[in-house]
Order: sequence, then C-alpha cells, then structure tokens
Amino acid sequence: MKILAPKKHNLPPGPSTFELWGDAPTESNQLLLDYPLSLMPKYGDIIRFPSSPREPMIYVMNPDVIDKILKKSRDIYIKDNKAYRSFWPTIGYSMLTSDKEDWQHARQHVQPAFHRQHLDSYFPMIVNCAQQATTRWLHIANNARVIDVHKEMALLTIDMVSQALLSTPLGEQKFPLLHFIERLNQQSHHRYPRFIPTLDNIEYMYTRWRTHRIVNKIIKEHKSPEYPDVIDLLSNPKTPRPQTRPLHEELRDEIKTMLVLGHESSACALSWFWLHLDQNPEYLARVLEEIETVVGQRPIELADLPNLVFTKAMLEEVLRFYPTAWQTTRKNTEPDEIGPYDIPANSIIGLHFYGLQRHPDHWENPNTFDPERFLPGRKEKINKAAYLPFGTGPRVCIGSQLSFMQSLVIITTLLQKFRLVDVSIKPVTPWALVSLRTPKHFRMEIRKVIKMNTK
Ligand code: HEM
Repeated sequence: MKILAPKKHNLPPGPSTFELWGDAPTESNQLLLDYPLSLMPKYGDIIRFPSSPREPMIYVMNPDVIDKILKKSRDIYIKDNKAYRSFWPTIGYSMLTSDKEDWQHARQHVQPAFHRQHLDSYFPMIVNCAQQATTRWLHIANNARVIDVHKEMALLTIDMVSQALLSTPLGEQKFPLLHFIERLNQQSHHRYPRFIPTLDNIEYMYTRWRTHRIVNKIIKEHKSPEYPDVIDLLSNPKTPRPQTRPLHEELRDEIKTMLVLGHESSACALSWFWLHLDQNPEYLARVLEEIETVVGQRPIELADLPNLVFTKAMLEEVLRFYPTAWQTTRKNTEPDEIGPYDIPANSIIGLHFYGLQRHPDHWENPNTFDPERFLPGRKEKINKAAYLPFGTGPRVCIGSQLSFMQSLVIITTLLQKFRLVDVSIKPVTPWALVSLRTPKHFRMEIRKVIKMNTK
C-alpha cells in the first residue's frame, strides 16, 4: 500500500524569532507601522511572523490579496478572532465585531440612516455644531489659546454623530463617553487580566458601568425624528431579528459602536489634517483660497461640498499617509491560497493598510505628503485596491460619506475664523492604538484671523 506523504505547505516567508529579536524595533509604533514595510524588500508583501502554530500570524500589504480577502469576508474570512474578540467586553457584540446573521441583520437595518437623503438631512445640524464650536474657540483664542486638538475634534464629532444617528444631543455626557473611548483605545495596554482588582481595572469597570448607564438613558429618553434613526431602525426591523440576545442588549452594543466608530476615526483624521496644514504653508494657502472662492464668509451650504476639491484631496491624502484604521484583522475558517502561498485554516491575517498605502510598487514617493495625487487628472491613475482607508467588500465602512461631510464642514467653518499652529514640545509622530492617533503631547495654538486669507 502506498502511503501518501502529507502535502507540503508553501507558507509565506518571514523573519525567524531569532531575526525578530535582533532586528525588530523596540519602539511599538515603529514595530507596528514601519517594520512590516521595511521587511518588504526581503520577504515581499505577504509576510509570516513567528507565532503560535495554532494561529499563524500573516501580514498582508499586497493590494490584490487584501482586496480578495476583504471581498471574501463573509464566506471564510471572519472577524471572530483574537483582535476583534478583545472588543467584546467594551463595545460588545455589534456590527463591528459580529459575523454572519447578527452582522447581516444589523448592517441591513441600519443602512438607511446612511442613505443620501438622510445624510443631507443631517447637514444643518452639522453646520450648527461647527458654528457653536467657533463661539467656544473664540473664548479660547482670547484666553489660554492652546488646545488638545484630538480632544477638541472628538468633542465636535461625537456630538454630530449622536445627533445624526441617535437623535440625541449628548451635552455633558460626552465627557464620560470620551473617557470610555480613551480606555477602549488603550485596552491592549492593560497589564493585568480584568478580573484582578487592580486600581486600573476597578476604574475601567466603573467607566464601563457609567457608559452603560448613559446608553440606557439614551434608549429610554429617545424620541423618533422625522427620518427613522439607528434606534428606530433596529427597534422596528423589517425582518425578524436573530434570536441570539435580547433587543435591549443589541441596541446598547450598536449605540456604543455608532458613538465610538462614528467619531474616533474622523477626529483622528482631522487632527492629522490640522498638523499637515500647518506644516505645509502652500497647501494652507490653496485650501484658504478655495474656501474663499467657494464659500466666502457665509455659512457653508450642502451645494458647496463638491466644489471643495483641493480640501477634499488634502483629507484623502491625510487618510493615505496616516490611515486612522491602520490595520484590520481576519481569521480564515478554511485553508486558502493567497498569491503563491498556502494559508492554513485559523491563521490571523493582519491587513496592513498603513503598509498598503505606502507600497513602493503602487505609490510614487510614498513617504511624501502630496495631496495633488488626489486631484482630477492624477486621481484616476491610483490603483483603487492600494487605497483602502475605509476598507472594501461587504464590511466596508458604513460612515465614510458622513465622515467627509462632517470633516469638510468643520474645516471650512473653523478656517473662516481661526488658524492653528503646532506648539507641541516634541515632534508629532503617529501613535498606533486601535486607531492611528496623534500623540498625547500634540497641542496647537488657536489664532483668530482678521482677514480670511492671511495667516
Ligand atoms: C475618517 C473616518 C473613518 C475611517 C477612516 C473609517 C474606517 C473604517 C474601516 C477601515 C472599516 C472596515 C474595518 C474592517 O473591514 O475590518 C470601518 C468599518 C466601520 N465603520 Fe468606519 N471609518 C470612519 C468613519 C466612520 C463613521 C463616521 C462611522 C459612523 C457610524 C463609521 C462606522 C463604521 C462601522 C459601523 C463599521 C463596521 C461595518 C461592518 O463591519 O459592516 N465609520 N471603518
């Protein structure tokens, strides 16, 4: 009888444990962001890292492979993996973290809140929030002047998202919510398992409990708006809900997800935007000229948005240069082939958007910040699969249009009255948490403008 030898897998290449120990940067941001890119000349753009044999870890920066994996997501590449499961205690089991029928139900029912007509109906509220911020900023500009940019952007965007998607102005409650999100973002940094009653863990449990109280209050006091919002859409689904858990739990987790995802990435992108505007006076001049021509000194209108071409190109380049969702992960439930390689079942696949969007084969001068690549004429030449700040496939970001709308309104309204100047005590380099943030020490000074196009 002939004994068949087990098939030899052609696994992706990658550094050995020994090489990692010797070469890998000890600074975690460099390790997570630039190190995989630096390995590309030696190992290519699909790299295996030494890890547990039960869950091999593979980093992918190849556009076609990322595209294929994300478009196959619903079949064999799922989110039920270590990274996404770590969100369960905080965000819960929601559209972001679930798979299969739970995800499908939530996505399908929430979708109308992101349709064009709904988005347009949010516009006056978004402008109103931005204008209220200018009143507060005027006060700051007359006094302390220096702001924590990320915090300011987060305060603005969380209010907008809560009013748009939940019909709820947050008022003072946004402060504890933002604190909760801070904890969530740094969750991988806690030292001891959550069940050990350290001071840090007790504070975390309290923050979580307080957040649930706020979310319960949002549900209890909710009043239906003209167009059904996320709470209405999920409470009165058109098809039966999967009976995996009570409606109240589903609502709570989806509300937390909307509040977190709806503001955090936009706030990160805006913070990077203000930094790049300050670092590039020629781009600042072009943005100001565009705002002066398109909007002038009146409040921004919905019809102005498509005409803010350069400002949008700046935002798009910010999202290429520092993708706030710098990576996502999937686990394959079955063995698969990606590119020339065999991928064993249960591998953890890191889809590395940061590396993808600086891939030297797909971007000219990838490490140069150049918004012109997103202007008509050059934009058409971009390989779409090499630019995925919002992901792709069935699990593509649901809020990308809302985010552009919020950001363009905030930028225009604030630049009509202020300039921001970096006064940080150290260089502003990326901080790879769950999202790609500006560092804690990032501070900018607010300066009032007397005339629109002077600095
Ligand atoms: C600059 C802003 C934003 C960026 C860069 C961004 C990025 C992303 C990315 C890359 C994904 C896909 C993750 C994956 O495939 O694993 C995603 C998913 C998601 N985003 Fe965003 N996002 C932004 C703004 C928003 C906003 C404003 C909302 C509004 C609620 C939102 C809600 C969501 C949700 C619910 C998902 C999960 C979708 C699903 O799995 O079906 N995002 N986002």
